[in-house]
Amino acid sequence: MQEITQKLWDKQNQHPDDRFRLFRAVGKVIAPKSVLYAGSYVDVAPSFIFPNVTYVDMDRRAKRFFDDEVGVKEIIKSKDTAAPNAQFSFIHSDYAKLSLPEQSFDLLISLYAGFISEYCTKFLKLGGHLLVNPSHGDAALASLDERYQLAGAVISESGDYRVVQTNLADYLQPKKTVEITRELLFSTNRGVAYTRPAFAYLFERVA
Ligand SMILES: C[S@@+](CC[C@H](N)C(=O)[O-])C[C@H]1O[C@@H](n2cnc3c(N)ncnc32)[C@H](O)[C@@H]1O
Repeated sequence: MQEITQKLWDKQNQHPDDRFRLFRAVGKVIAPKSVLYAGSYVDVAPSFIFPNVTYVDMDRRAKRFFDDEVGVKEIIKSKDTAAPNAQFSFIHSDYAKLSLPEQSFDLLISLYAGFISEYCTKFLKLGGHLLVNPSHGDAALASLDERYQLAGAVISESGDYRVVQTNLADYLQPKKTVEITRELLFSTNRGVAYTRPAFAYLFERVA
């Protein structure tokens, strides 16, 4: 493995195995065959759990990282939960300009990287899922999107994660009485504070 690959991964994995635990929790409730991770940077933790992941990022360091295919494979294979023939690919692109077959992925991942649901939902199969955290407003955007239905809340507890699938109506209730609109979200680029917060949400694509 190239030294730069190890360095980038060590920084990404500075809370050791945190993302592994996140995707492991998600993998307990869904079993996506193909995953699209837009704005992934060098977070290859989905490949510890899911058999085929397409990573997308516009950052040059992410490209350098994925260019070291042998090194990235080594990282993925370091976890015995990874599929023996785990497949991955990297697209060095703006996720708003992707050209991929529509409705071809089972899971779309959006973590700390902007309004991915806006640009990439078309690539998600009907019945597929969006894993999204609230930080940049993308969870709030998905909650307004008629193509999505909330299917789970990802709770972070004592360094681990679990996906709750009951009483989902308690989630995504804004603390303030301001009307949440697309315009508001795009103008602020910020998440919404909810009365019952969750680390992330799982939405099912229903339309
Ligand atoms: C804060 S990092 C989060 C990385 C990763 N999702 C994680 O949670 O560890 C945001 C990443 O999104 C990428 N990004 C932001 N906007 C993007 C766009 N329009 N197209 C591709 N990548 C983008 C950035 O290059 C950066 O690597």
